[in-house]
Amino acid sequence: MALVFAVSLAGAVHADNSLDPATAMASACSSCHSAHSVSSDAEGPGSLAALTANEIEQALLAFRSGERVGTLMNRLARGYSDDEITAMARVLTKQ
Ligand code: HEC
Repeated sequence: MALVFAVSLAGAVHADNSLDPATAMASACSSCHSAHSVSSDAEGPGSLAALTANEIEQALLAFRSGERVGTLMNRLARGYSDDEITAMARVLTKQ
């Protein structure tokens, strides 16, 4: 179920041609990681704004390899290549 969600989410953002691919992919992150709050609530994931590009990149690589255990970031991270992870981390820390 979560895998299906992640795949369809990736498909949906790839279909949006009005943004460059990295920005479109990164926009999918904000549905769970709100852009401005430090932490939306105790249960949910925090904002990515407090992290550096390198921290986001390392976290995604660790989730993808299974080195870091999560509830759904592991499945989500598996949908992205090394280059896509690097590009998204840059976009997410640009603003
Ligand atoms: C469906 C909700 C959801 C989406 C979409 C999502 N995340 Fe997450 N994220 C989480 C949750 C929940 C965690 C906490 C770890 C876990 O349980 O998997 C997390 C954790 C993280 C962490 C670690 C944060 C920290 O403080 O160490 C990073 C980095 C991260 N996500 C990046 C991203 C990026 C980049 C994207 C977009 C590709 C993204 N997330 C999309 C839910 C989501």
